[in-house]
Amino acid sequence: MRDGSASVIEVVDLRKIYRIYRRPQDRLFQAFARGKQLYREFQALDGVSFAVGRGEVVGILGRNGSGKSTLLQILVGTLGASSGQVAVRGRVAALLELGAGFNPEFSGIENVFLNAAILGLDRAETEARLAEILAFADIGDFVHQPVKTYSSGMYVRLAFAVAACVDPEVLIVDEALAVGDVKFQSKCFRRFEELVGRGKTILFVTHSVEQVVRHCGRALLMEGGRLIDDGEPRQIVNRYVDLLLGGDASAEAAVAADALPCVPRHAERLELRAGYCETEYRWGEGGAELFDAELRRPGGGHELSYRTGEMIELVLRGRFLRACHRPIFGVYVKTPDGITVYGNSSRNLLREFPAADVGDEREVVFGMRLHLGAGSYLLSLGLAEEEGADVRALDRRYDVLQFEVHAPPAAVGIADLQAVCRIGVNGDEK
Ligand SMILES: Nc1ncnc2c1ncn2[C@@H]1O[C@H](COP(=O)(O)OP(=O)(O)OP(=O)(O)O)[C@@H](O)[C@H]1O
Ligand SMILES: [Mg+2]
Repeated sequence: MRDGSASVIEVVDLRKIYRIYRRPQDRLFQAFARGKQLYREFQALDGVSFAVGRGEVVGILGRNGSGKSTLLQILVGTLGASSGQVAVRGRVAALLELGAGFNPEFSGIENVFLNAAILGLDRAETEARLAEILAFADIGDFVHQPVKTYSSGMYVRLAFAVAACVDPEVLIVDEALAVGDVKFQSKCFRRFEELVGRGKTILFVTHSVEQVVRHCGRALLMEGGRLIDDGEPRQIVNRYVDLLLGGDASAEAAVAADALPCVPRHAERLELRAGYCETEYRWGEGGAELFDAELRRPGGGHELSYRTGEMIELVLRGRFLRACHRPIFGVYVKTPDGITVYGNSSRNLLREFPAADVGDEREVVFGMRLHLGAGSYLLSLGLAEEEGADVRALDRRYDVLQFEVHAPPAAVGIADLQAVCRIGVNGDEK
């Protein structure tokens, strides 16, 4: 849903400029300052545009301070925009910062009524849903206590229960779920699915990339107040992780990687290998090319099908277009829905790695035992350079090669924990 037709949320060229006063009292004095400016301006949102359609679950990722909460507050209406347009159609229920919307002196139940009223429900409608809300929150007798006595987890349980049970058209959640325990989180995500099944729309901010690949059909990536990417969650997550790791995943960097010379001296190319995924996400500042990867049994040739527990070798081949003091080769194994199963690098596994000169080719061989359950797996590979405390990404190729693992049919899951089983004392005596 990108074109804005029949959208539930529409944001056009949204900007937010905060005024930052040096002293709190300057906010007051400004009115009498006769043209003198007692504040400096900070642009927290810079021309953000997107549209969300009915029934979409959209995850918003971005580093701290990138503008996510500012965006949600404007969508919900608790904060005004400096310019641009925002339209949200239908009843919006939101969980923003912890504390917003609840009166600390009131009991949980009183706050349920207060909150539901803010969301447009009358007393009878709220009473009809009260049992469901309290069951969902599951905080026992605490509902009769003032919410100022709540733990942050209890608080979120109650706030989410209200938001999810008032039947909103749009549910907006800002990181709140992070404070709930895992069991409560999974209950929330089940409720998300139910809501989406009924055509509701969900927008949520999280720092959990796993939540985004699991639960969202689409993701947005914020950086420095701008929406820098909007698309398929796995791709967006990859780019977000790169930002977190200090890489520059800007369009220029991606172009630089594309512009690498395409004819290595070595005969093989990753693009020609069986199992190569054209949908790979590739970026890096250039200067080296990770041009080939081969997955094999020790001594064998490229092969994509293995049994659980087998020993494999992953051979990575890189070529250097400039001198590189401390090259690092890295590998990640992920499930198709983006869960990282394992990751490691030559920096961790080798005491040292020879520097490379312009035109050099280097090959590293990772030996790994496949303690994996049955299924498909994706390899993400990288060639980087260590520079002091920094790691500079030269050529990263995420989700680039797919292989299969076959396991005995009796086990399930992504890991092979090599269970053994014996009959215990009680069983013996029978
Ligand atoms: N009331 C405010 N006055 C001035 N600056 C603000 C205000 N609120 C937020 N900012 C600034 O705007 C920027 C965006 O903040 P915002 O809270 O939207 O980021 P965020 O993406 O939600 O970050 P986080 O992941 O830490 O929650 C930050 O640099 C922040 O310091
Ligand atoms: Mg925030």
